[in-house]
Amino acid sequence: MRPPIVIILAAGEGTRMKSATPKVLHEISGRSLLGHVIEAASTIEPEHLVVVVGHESEQVVAHLDEVAPWVATVEQTQRNGTGHAVRVALEFLSERGVTTSEAPVVVLTGDTPLLTGESLVTMLTKHSENTAAATVLTADLDNPFGYGRILRSSDRVVGIVEEKDATPQQREIGEINSGMYAFEGAALLDAITGLNTSNSQGEEYLTDVIEILASRGDVVIGVSAHDTSDILGINDRSQLASAMAIMRDRINDKWMKAGVTIFDPESTWIDVDAELAPDVTLFPQTTVRGPTAIETGAQVGPGTTLISAEVGVNAIVRHTWAELVVIGAGATVGPYTYLRPGTVIGASGKAGAFVEMKNAQLGEGSKVPHLSYVGDATIGVGTNIGAGTIFVNYDGVEKHHTTVGDQARVGSDNMLIGPVVIGDGAYTAAGSVVTEDVPAGAMAVGRARQRNILDWVLRKRPGTQSAQAAQRATQSDQSGHEKVQARTPTFPAQDIIE
Ligand code: UD1
Ligand code: CA
Repeated sequence: MRPPIVIILAAGEGTRMKSATPKVLHEISGRSLLGHVIEAASTIEPEHLVVVVGHESEQVVAHLDEVAPWVATVEQTQRNGTGHAVRVALEFLSERGVTTSEAPVVVLTGDTPLLTGESLVTMLTKHSENTAAATVLTADLDNPFGYGRILRSSDRVVGIVEEKDATPQQREIGEINSGMYAFEGAALLDAITGLNTSNSQGEEYLTDVIEILASRGDVVIGVSAHDTSDILGINDRSQLASAMAIMRDRINDKWMKAGVTIFDPESTWIDVDAELAPDVTLFPQTTVRGPTAIETGAQVGPGTTLISAEVGVNAIVRHTWAELVVIGAGATVGPYTYLRPGTVIGASGKAGAFVEMKNAQLGEGSKVPHLSYVGDATIGVGTNIGAGTIFVNYDGVEKHHTTVGDQARVGSDNMLIGPVVIGDGAYTAAGSVVTEDVPAGAMAVGRARQRNILDWVLRKRPGTQSAQAAQRATQSDQSGHEKVQARTPTFPAQDIIE
């Protein structure tokens, strides 16, 4: 089969989206509508692919430069209809010295993201087998309202009539025009010169090419799409949501067939660029965005969002939001954990409940189990960070780095004021504010010594329930409570700041 030339029409405004974003740039499963169509088109290996842009063309062109730099774009400055748009593309190709007369020319629209390669391959194969001048991709819809209807005579297509131009009998026809076609280049070039604007919308209809070709005796056929969902166009947010759900189901089915357990497919959203290994388990309300990779045996969710993350073999990630992070093999994360860009959890490491981490590397087997913020840090292997520890990385102007060595034990409720280094095997006392480096093997105590002001409550809060309880405890040896002994001298009452 000769490699086709593909033209994608995407100059329309998409007013019903009511959006500042051009319609074809709205996303489904991490890829723009237009990106999905280009992806489907790439399965038929086009020799050239031209996207006709118009509305907000700068944004569309910039997007294409980023995601599909191999495609060409041409601007349709005046949107005079689908026939005009194709003419603009053909003129552009001929100016570039591309011969369009000898190849199949496939015309697609930029707002049909559910189009599959299978439908295109079927269309092109039938087109070639029948040596057709034109092949229309069609679908039978229960509610064909709004679409062009396929007019047939025996097994040949003889024309397409738009909803607005159709007679009541023609509106009864359930077979619709998807707006996607394969043409013989020469036949298209010839017929397109015959288009006029004498229709209810005053536009050059590409659909009129079908009637022109059929009436001069050329073979024009209709081929059903692989699945009716393939041809669904997006015009508004409801259709966008429907298409999102269909794409979600397709992606989930693909991964389930590949050995992934998905507890609740309806609440599980996986982007097209994600990679999941067999025996991954996804719990409900899990979203896997961007080029995230999840290795075998890993359990993700419930309630977890991973964005461009790597999750290692057998890792467990629960109730977590993690973006641009690496979670090592056998590591555990969550519940209620926020891992921000640049976080690396080493193999068998742990980031536990209510832990936030950013630009922080946690060595193998190291743990931040509870209620901590770890920002701009390097932590060695086998180290434990006590509950409630804050890596104080920001002095109001600049960010500073904290390094904690191997096998260190940071006590609970520490403030590690960066830049600071805690050596290998060092300990810090609970409640310490660590402002100075701690040598390897040392115990750092960075807190005020405790003092007890005896009988303060009896003197300053007389008559309260606290005072009564204290009185009972201090007066009665038979109280049953162990008496708390003074460890520091009594201070005069006036020393106390209330
Ligand atoms: C078109 C078909 C209709 C088909 C339907 C499928 C025509 C006359 N009718 O109708 O038979 O059932 O698609 O969705 O072709 N576009 C341009 N430049 C233009 C006009 C349109 O690039 O000047 C693009 C639009 O951005 C869109 C596509 O072409 O991607 C289709 O245009 P639209 O106006 O939506 O055509 P429909 O009225 O839906
Ligand atoms: Ca349309």
